[in-house]
Amino acid sequence: MRITIDGPAGVGKSTVAKSLSRKLKIPLLETGKIYRAVGLALLKGGRKPQEVMPEDALDALKDIKILPDIGETKMLYRNHPIGEEIKKEEVGNIASVIGAFPSFREAVNEIFRKVSGKDIIAEGRDAGTHIFPEAEVKIFLIASIEERARRRLKDLKKMGVKADLDELIARIEERDRRDETRDKYPFVPARDAIIIDTTGKGVDEVIEEALSVIRTRVG
Ligand code: DC
Repeated sequence: MRITIDGPAGVGKSTVAKSLSRKLKIPLLETGKIYRAVGLALLKGGRKPQEVMPEDALDALKDIKILPDIGETKMLYRNHPIGEEIKKEEVGNIASVIGAFPSFREAVNEIFRKVSGKDIIAEGRDAGTHIFPEAEVKIFLIASIEERARRRLKDLKKMGVKADLDELIARIEERDRRDETRDKYPFVPARDAIIIDTTGKGVDEVIEEALSVIRTRVG
């Protein structure tokens, strides 16, 4: 069974997708991780987001290996595991710049399809529209911008990173705008996706709703 979980930054899709992967024992493909891993490699190589070219991103992609697994997507860059660093805001920002390159999206999507078996939970932005348009179940998570920024703030605090709520709101809005207005492959829900609004809901409640969508769709 193929299940896609898409949604914007900070909506909680990663937590939901991880939990569903463990509960249903279906491997997880975290698509944002590859955009972030490539972004981190470029930042470490001294590139600034505004200078990055599609060829740089495609080049770094050659050194990345991904393996979907239960509850996580294992990922290596030059045979070294990729750490928590990819969760940082500046990495998310460069990942979104890379996400606007159609040639890069086409290359990663081909890799995603190659590394996924017939059972997969794919989490990201375009899992239901471009990676697995034939998926049996498509879920699209939404939440208010304030709540998404608050959740991000909590995650960053846990990692020991200081951040300001208003600044985070502005950054997330900028990222949303870039992801939604890119010329090719703009970020939109799949037409047949079920929308779940997670605003004001706890993780368990959202997971129950997602499980109920899956049961209804596949029996
Ligand atoms: O989901 P995330 O916050 O980890 O993603 C970081 C950025 O990567 C996001 O702003 C845009 C890009 N991305 C993408 O373009 N397509 C995906 N399937 C996943 C992520």
